[in-house]
Amino acid sequence: MINAPEYIKTIKPYVPGKPIEELERELGITGSIKLASNENPLGPSPRAIEALSKGIEGLNRYPDGSAFHLKKSLAARLGVSPDEILLGNGSNELIELAVRTFLAPGDEAISARPSFVVYPTIVQSAGGKNVIVPLKDWRHDLDAMADRITGKTKLIFIANPNNPTGTINTNAEMDAFMNRVPENVLVVVDEAYYEYVTSSEYADSMKYFRQGRNILILRTFSKIYGLAGLRIGYGIAHTSIITEKNKVRQPFNVNSLAQVAALAALEDEGHVEKAKKINEEGKKFLCDELRSMNIDYVPTEANFIYIILRDGNAPELYNELLKEGVIVRPMGSSEIRVTIGLPEENKRFVQALRKIQGK
Ligand SMILES: Cc1ncc(COP(=O)(O)O)c(C=O)c1O
Repeated sequence: MINAPEYIKTIKPYVPGKPIEELERELGITGSIKLASNENPLGPSPRAIEALSKGIEGLNRYPDGSAFHLKKSLAARLGVSPDEILLGNGSNELIELAVRTFLAPGDEAISARPSFVVYPTIVQSAGGKNVIVPLKDWRHDLDAMADRITGKTKLIFIANPNNPTGTINTNAEMDAFMNRVPENVLVVVDEAYYEYVTSSEYADSMKYFRQGRNILILRTFSKIYGLAGLRIGYGIAHTSIITEKNKVRQPFNVNSLAQVAALAALEDEGHVEKAKKINEEGKKFLCDELRSMNIDYVPTEANFIYIILRDGNAPELYNELLKEGVIVRPMGSSEIRVTIGLPEENKRFVQALRKIQGK
């Protein structure tokens, strides 16, 4: 029998948000809603859908491995060169490529907890050592993270905004942090929820890129662009970093439909604005309702809200909500994360919560 190495055997598998179909099959119910995976409730841009139907005709061909048109469009928008952009099969793949490119077995990677669980999983699967730093007041404790840098540190992951808390780190905090990071460490700033942020203090990661620092900025088409099912994200970094990652990347890692849909979605600024507006309104509604129920939550800069239950009954609440046809994400013994949905979905979540809590 073939045996996986110990560091693979001990990986805790990623648990995705429960799909609607699965819940309905299990409970024999219909009309459920999913507020579990921070997806865009509006759906994809109509322009992306149109581009997809045209793109289908070319499916006998391999995709453009260099994603010429999409990179050109992204580069023009970002004020960078196409050589400073790397596309991935979701930003998840770009996290994986960063680890496979820059971390050798035994090297260390620093990340926070709770944060995006994919970072430590990928580091462990590459035989790396995870250095985990707890959040402070639900935000990345950048001072404590810098304190943990050693001669073996290769990567530092910062989700800004953080998933699952929706919190951000500020310009001042990032400036102080970047001043402490040595030149041989790559800082990965994961900005999957970048487009939703409204705070004027939000750290401008592009500034460090322009200063020539070792930074990899990750963004995605899965969230505000509404294309999670197609799996496409992008990274911005200096060509020296992109060149190394490109050596490790599969030649056709981003499929042709994802490329054409992303290009169309990027151009549909109206759809992005609509998604932002719906998110802001939903955020206000949900936060007002939570306050009126006397339920604690963390103020968010993203499209989800981290709810903290004083009675510590998160798994039970999750199951009760499922029975009401509402799928959220249980995060620990006392926390659930709910994605901000369409107005009717938010109302349905609140109604179910009120019913369960007797409020
Ligand atoms: C912080 C963060 N980074 C990355 C991702 C992955 O996004 P993608 O769909 O682009 O792989 C997610 C998805 O939930 C996320 O929350």
